[in-house]
Amino acid sequence: MAEPRPRVWVSQPLFDDIVARLAAHFEVRAASAVAAYAPADIARALADADGALVTLNERIGADEIAGASRLRAIANVGVGYNNLDIDALSAAGVLATNTPDVLTETTADLGFALLMAAARRIGESERWLRAGRWRQWSFSTLLGADIHGSTLGILGMGRIGQAIARRGAHGFGMRVVYHNRRPLPGEAEAALGATWLEFERLLAEADHLVLVLPYSAATHHIVDAAALARMKPTATLVNIARGGIVDELALAEALAAGRLAAAGLDVFEGEPAVRPELLALDNVVLTPHIGSASLATRRAMVALAVDNLIAALGAGPHAGRPPSPVNADAVAETLGTRDRKR
Ligand code: GLV
Repeated sequence: MAEPRPRVWVSQPLFDDIVARLAAHFEVRAASAVAAYAPADIARALADADGALVTLNERIGADEIAGASRLRAIANVGVGYNNLDIDALSAAGVLATNTPDVLTETTADLGFALLMAAARRIGESERWLRAGRWRQWSFSTLLGADIHGSTLGILGMGRIGQAIARRGAHGFGMRVVYHNRRPLPGEAEAALGATWLEFERLLAEADHLVLVLPYSAATHHIVDAAALARMKPTATLVNIARGGIVDELALAEALAAGRLAAAGLDVFEGEPAVRPELLALDNVVLTPHIGSASLATRRAMVALAVDNLIAALGAGPHAGRPPSPVNADAVAETLGTRDRKR
């Protein structure tokens, strides 16, 4: 009898023509409508699955995979993977993959769009115009901060941080300063025109500060009331990373009190819920986690996640070598230990 085909679960409707590639190798169970899953729903969906294609909205940890004895791979459609408990997956021998590179430039574009919208008060200007207030115009109406020639601060200098640095340095003649756990090599800094600073100095010197660092216990609320207090009152803060990096209540207080000029936020700690304190403010531009949301990039992300899942489950031309694994070493260690115990 032929071996049964591996089963995969696709958690949300993605692009049908791309997801269809899975059917050449697997038995596919795909959500037909957008769904918000409770942990028990995810556990049920994974219980008989060999692999899964999931989005950032699905949180998967030890409890969700406890009954998933066949599970070998989870392909996340996103570069960040804080929705996955990587330690729990590794300990269970489950490979996680993500979608780096394909979204770098699109996400950097959005970061720059938010920076410009916040600094030049675009959202507020539009609301003002639509409210029929133009006749109240004066020469000092809706004055913002310049972007060209100012100091761009970047917290987190990975691929997206570097793409933002290029836009700032080469497109807008900005002085670029950054903080990262490890400074970039000298040639990379020279090519970007970027200078490493201590975190405190970065906060103090940036006219516009963009957050692009991964979210973890170590970066939770790293931008808190004390950090905000170090920033210039004329500064702009942009967050395109993860909401939990910023203490949003402290941010709302700083914006309301004029201790920070403006903010642009694409990510929120409790998303899709957004704090009423932020919604009430005029000097914050809010977007619903659309960093990678161009058609071409979202398609490229799904294509990469599909490639990852096919390869991670040992099928296709790259069987066993998914393009972007997250925890390959830890999984190899778990599987090696299991083999030795047999
Ligand atoms: C988006 O936030 C991603 O991590 O891909």
